[in-house]
Amino acid sequence: MSDRKALDIVTADAVAAAHDRIEAIVHRTPVDSSTTFADMSGASSVGLKLENMQRTGSFKIRGAYNTMAQLSEQTKDRGVIASSAGNHAQGVALAGDILGIDTTIVVPEVTPAAKIEATRGYGAEVIVEGKIYEHSYEYALELAEEMELEFIHPFNDEGVIAGQGTVGKELIEQYPTLDTVVVSIGGGGLISGIATVLKQHDPSIRVIGVQPAGAYHAKPSLKRDEIRELSEIDTVAEGIADTRLLEKTFTVIREYVDDVVSVSDLEMSVALTLLAERAKTVVETAGAAPVAALLSDAVDVRGEHVAAVVSGGNVNLTEHGELTRTGLMHLGRYAEVEIAVDNWPTGVSAVTTTTESQGAELDVLERTRRTAQDDPNRTPIRVGIEGSGTEHLQSVIDALDSLDELSVTSHTLA
Ligand SMILES: Cc1ncc(COP(=O)(O)O)c(C=O)c1O
Repeated sequence: MSDRKALDIVTADAVAAAHDRIEAIVHRTPVDSSTTFADMSGASSVGLKLENMQRTGSFKIRGAYNTMAQLSEQTKDRGVIASSAGNHAQGVALAGDILGIDTTIVVPEVTPAAKIEATRGYGAEVIVEGKIYEHSYEYALELAEEMELEFIHPFNDEGVIAGQGTVGKELIEQYPTLDTVVVSIGGGGLISGIATVLKQHDPSIRVIGVQPAGAYHAKPSLKRDEIRELSEIDTVAEGIADTRLLEKTFTVIREYVDDVVSVSDLEMSVALTLLAERAKTVVETAGAAPVAALLSDAVDVRGEHVAAVVSGGNVNLTEHGELTRTGLMHLGRYAEVEIAVDNWPTGVSAVTTTTESQGAELDVLERTRRTAQDDPNRTPIRVGIEGSGTEHLQSVIDALDSLDELSVTSHTLA
C-alpha cells in the first residue's frame, strides 16, 4: 500500500471548487429533521440529508459532473465511458447530456430494463455486456482503450470524490451543530468526500460508515490496514454491493473515517419502511442503510446531533412494496395468515367482515392449493393483514379463529 495521505487525494479546497462547478447543475437537497428517528435512536436531533431527491435520484451526478466538467476539450470531444448497473450510470449520462459529451455505459445482462431505459433517457448509449458487473467493467476498460474514451470511475477518482464531498459541504451549512454523520459505503467515494470536508472543518465531527453485512469489506480492510476483497457478496442493497475499496478511497477512509459498522438486509428494509411511513420519502435500500445503523445498537448517538445521508431513491415500486411488507412484518404490523374455510367462496365473507370489524386492513386474499394433508371438505386461503401492532394483529387472528365457519391453520407474526 502506498504511503499517500488523504490530503494528496482530495482537499476541502477541491471540494469547494467542485461545489462552485456543480452548484448551478445539482439540487441543494434538503435536510429534513426527524423526531421519529431522534426518539428511536436517543439522539438530540436527526437530520436526513435527502440525496434521494437529487437529480437522477442519487448523489452520483455530483461526482460525475465534477470530473467530466474538468476534462480537456479533446477528451470531451471523444466522449466518456463507464460501467454501472445503477446510479453512477445515470449520473454520468446526465452529466454528459448537460456538458455535451457523448456517453457510453456498459451494463451487465441482469440489469432491469427500466434502469437501461432511464440511462438511455439521459442520452447515453447503453451496451449490455457481461454476466456480472466485473465483466462489464473489464469490457468498458477494453472499449475505453480501443476507442480512446475516458473511463469515469464510480469512486476511485479525485474529481468524483471531491464532487461527492459537496454533500458534506452543504451539511455543514445546513446543520452547523452536527456531531456525527452516518454514510453508506460501496466503493467509498461518497464517504471519502464527505469525511474530507467535515474533518478539515472540525476534526471532532464523527464520521461513521455503514455497509451491508453481506458486503462488509471496509472494516476488515481498516483492521488489517490493507484492502480486503470479498470473493462474494450477498445483499439486497445493490447500490452498495461492492467487493472492495480501492487505493484512493482506502487512503482517505483510513485517515478520516472513525468507524464502519454493518447492518442486515432486514434492518435496511425496516429503515426503508419507516422512511416511507414517517419521513414520507421513497428510498432504495442503500439509501436506508445509515438510518438502519442509527436504529441498531451498532452506533451510539445518544444526546448527539446526527445526520444520516439518505443517498438514493432509485427503486422500482413493486420492489419497494415487497421491502415495506417485509419491514412491516418485522415491526409486527403485518401478518400472513393461512385459513381453511368451510364454504368456498361464501365463507370468505366471514374473513373480510371480521378483519374489517377489528379495524385491520386486508391486503391480499388468495385461494391456495390444497395439500394431501388438507381436509378435502375445506378450502385453504391465505390472507395478508395490516394492523397497528402485534397485539392488535393477534386479536384479529384470535377473532378469525373463533368463527365456526373457518379455522386458522398457521400465521406469521413477529
Ligand atoms: C444509493 C447509493 N448509496 C451509496 C453508494 C455508495 O457510494 P460509494 O461507492 O461512493 O461508496 C452508492 C454507490 O453506487 C449508491 O448508489
